[in-house]
Amino acid sequence: MTETPVAPTPPTPPKRRVGTPGALDAVSAPDARAPIDPGELAAALEAARRRTHELTDCLPADELTARHSPLMSPLVWDLAHIANQEEIWLLRRAGGRAPLRADLDHLYDAFRHPRADRSALPLLSPAEARHYAAEVRAQALEVLDLLAGEPERAFLFAMIAQHEQQHDETMLATHQLRRGRGVLYAPAPARPRPGHRPPAEVLVPAGPFTMGVDPADDPWALDNEGPAHRVFVPAFWLDTTPVSNVAYQEFIADGGYHQSRWWHPEGWAHRKQANLTAPAFWHRDLEGQWLRHRFGRAEPVPPDEPVLHISWYEADAYARWAGRRLPTEAEWEKAARHHPATGRSRRYPWGDVAPDARHANLGQRHLRPAPVGAYAEGAAPSGARQLLGDVWEWTATEFTGYPGFAAHPYREYSEVFFDAGYRVLRGGSFGTDPVACRGTFRNWDLPVRRQIFAGFRTCRDARPGLG
Ligand code: AVJ
Ligand code: FE
Repeated sequence: MTETPVAPTPPTPPKRRVGTPGALDAVSAPDARAPIDPGELAAALEAARRRTHELTDCLPADELTARHSPLMSPLVWDLAHIANQEEIWLLRRAGGRAPLRADLDHLYDAFRHPRADRSALPLLSPAEARHYAAEVRAQALEVLDLLAGEPERAFLFAMIAQHEQQHDETMLATHQLRRGRGVLYAPAPARPRPGHRPPAEVLVPAGPFTMGVDPADDPWALDNEGPAHRVFVPAFWLDTTPVSNVAYQEFIADGGYHQSRWWHPEGWAHRKQANLTAPAFWHRDLEGQWLRHRFGRAEPVPPDEPVLHISWYEADAYARWAGRRLPTEAEWEKAARHHPATGRSRRYPWGDVAPDARHANLGQRHLRPAPVGAYAEGAAPSGARQLLGDVWEWTATEFTGYPGFAAHPYREYSEVFFDAGYRVLRGGSFGTDPVACRGTFRNWDLPVRRQIFAGFRTCRDARPGLG
């Protein structure tokens, strides 16, 4: 234990007692949270930091400060931003400590500088950023020691561990965009067992289910994952797995990119303007075979892997070409969480036990999705597979708040992105850490974006009697 005094309550916002009505703050605290074990929080912070180092220690200083793409921050910005957010939320807010580097808040405020401009800012050097991150971390662990599991402030630690992992996935996407030789290595994921081909689609029967989760039931849930609410979902047929590269190649070969009838009007305009003809990182060799670049290496496109690096517009066009549609967010979540035997919504497709290597391709254990049909042990009751891990899945739904949504602890995590043309993605990718992935987790991006590890699956209405 440390001698450093910690304020008994954070300076802002005022703590809200369970069940106390009335507005205290622009950003209200949830009514109740299950406590999280402090040891678990420390482990989550440390795991995130190991990954941050893995993604940044492998590159020389000039590659950390370079702008690899206008869509991404220089890696050294992510590194110092991770530390600055940790200082703001864990040292100042949870710990009540005086600012360590208030002078950095402006530089590392994501809302003040577009990603494309960040490499031109007077950023901390890689050595300074690492030093700042280590200093903040040492103090954050002191604060954690003194919290004794107090739920509301413990949540801030859970949020910050997830925040770092989210930026780690973003940094992984920056690695994918950088030119030059690859510096990351990982084994290939396991292949599905031969001879056990699941059906192409599975039926999710009509009925209500509980969508979203309350903080009382999942102390790791971020604000946009709640409140829990009942949603009636008509019956639908869902692809058992994400759409594969070979299936997507049929769309390309059939001229899908050149027929406006498959495309959302804005998608068609974008396709022409950006001259999209295939997923990002794909090109054809002289014989017309599809190759792709993946973390600094060129390789044939593996036919049975989920398609990756497509925009929402491309996913939507493929679905229409196939005579199908993208699932809504509610359909996706029902397929992933609803347990017909009990009527309950569970944390993961396979139940409530934490993901491991048998269930899903998460946590950057691999640097690619597993072939479609893998992870039979991670299947949902409906039979759908790979709902978590492998590739983020675009849904039809525009990102907005659930009924009764309350921003917590800051509007800029989610609320400022509501109803602004972002589409929801679900399920996480091979680059998503399990700590930031569950059946309720919501991601979002603009429909033109392709740099994230996104794929999709399709569905169709089930008409009574027609199957
Ligand atoms: C949830 C992935 C869309 O990267 O913009 C990071 C996560 N929020 N820092 C993002 C996030 C603040 C966010 N996404
Ligand atoms: Fe951030």
